[in-house]
Amino acid sequence: MGKIKAAITGVSGYVPEDIMTNFDLEKLVETNDEWIVSRTGIKQRHILKDPKKAMSDLGVEAVNKLLAKTGTKPEEIDMLIVGTITGDYVFPDTANLISHKIGAKNAFGFDINAACSGFIYSLMVGAKFVESGSHKKVIIVGGDKMSSILNYEDRATCILFGDGAGAVLLEPSEDGNGIQNAILKSDGSGSEYLYMKAGGSLNPPTAETVANREHFVTQDGRIVFKAAIKGMSESIRDLMEKNNLTQEDIDWVIPHQANNRIITAVGDQVGFPSEKVLVNIHNYGNTTAGTIPLVLSDFEDKFKKGDKIILTAFGGGFTWGSILLHWAY
Ligand code: UT7
Repeated sequence: MGKIKAAITGVSGYVPEDIMTNFDLEKLVETNDEWIVSRTGIKQRHILKDPKKAMSDLGVEAVNKLLAKTGTKPEEIDMLIVGTITGDYVFPDTANLISHKIGAKNAFGFDINAACSGFIYSLMVGAKFVESGSHKKVIIVGGDKMSSILNYEDRATCILFGDGAGAVLLEPSEDGNGIQNAILKSDGSGSEYLYMKAGGSLNPPTAETVANREHFVTQDGRIVFKAAIKGMSESIRDLMEKNNLTQEDIDWVIPHQANNRIITAVGDQVGFPSEKVLVNIHNYGNTTAGTIPLVLSDFEDKFKKGDKIILTAFGGGFTWGSILLHWAY
């Protein structure tokens, strides 16, 4: 019997109905559709407008779709991990809320805070439980309600992000397909370039932090832009070298969707033809931990069993890395 691998055996995505176009943003801040499309590739993003709904509701929609698609009963789930930076509360974890809402009463779980790398970090943690043989049906959710932490007076950040979530089912595989290998990195020296100033234990919420609009995403876009291209390109190259693979061996590259110029630069630097690099940023913007499962879900029909796929992400922390997997169905 071969070594057990963790394989993705189903994917799903969910974005809320309401759409905010670049033209809608023109009415809020000094910007225009031409600037946003040419600098980022984004044409629209989906926004969860219902004030009573939160990240767990996005997750519940994605997971319920996944359960229906894969014929999985909620009680069969052993573990549920959520990559997010916009959990419903500081505590408890959104994983607990989603498990409760869908009736996954045998699942334990927790959230992973790794910003835009939240999904790939969570996927690798879940994979280790499956590979060890201790857990058989593990759900990984990645998603964010970014509209809850955006300053719609700051044109440099509010145009970039949207709301959405995706989910995958991980199960044991013995035919060699599944997650093969990963390179995951973090570097806290980048923390000040992409973060939320207040709301944590350093700067708890006060009337002053609210008045100063410190509960929103703050970013030095140019520094993050360069670091993202470097981090994703280097981790893809290292991963291919570690696995004796060349660009020709890889069928698909699924990058975090933060900016189409970052995606193109990574593809060009590592030497992938653009047809292999999957992009859906024009429809959703940057949904932070949601981007990679949303790409998996949108392009699922293209994948064939055994396809070699690289997932790659970069985000606040800084956090980044790449995962190599062989598609299992
Ligand atoms: O997922 C990881 C998290 N985030 C990212 O990966 C994002 C990384 N950064 C980026 O994607 C880009 O840096 C941005 C899209 C945020 C900005 O693009 P840029 O090409 O780096 O623009 P910039 O910040 O250098 O700004 C160029 C000009 C500035 O005007 P001046 O100083 O040249 O007169 C900005 O004030 O564009 C201006 N600008 C805008 N103009 C119209 C900035 N935002 C806007 C806007 N509309 N929304």
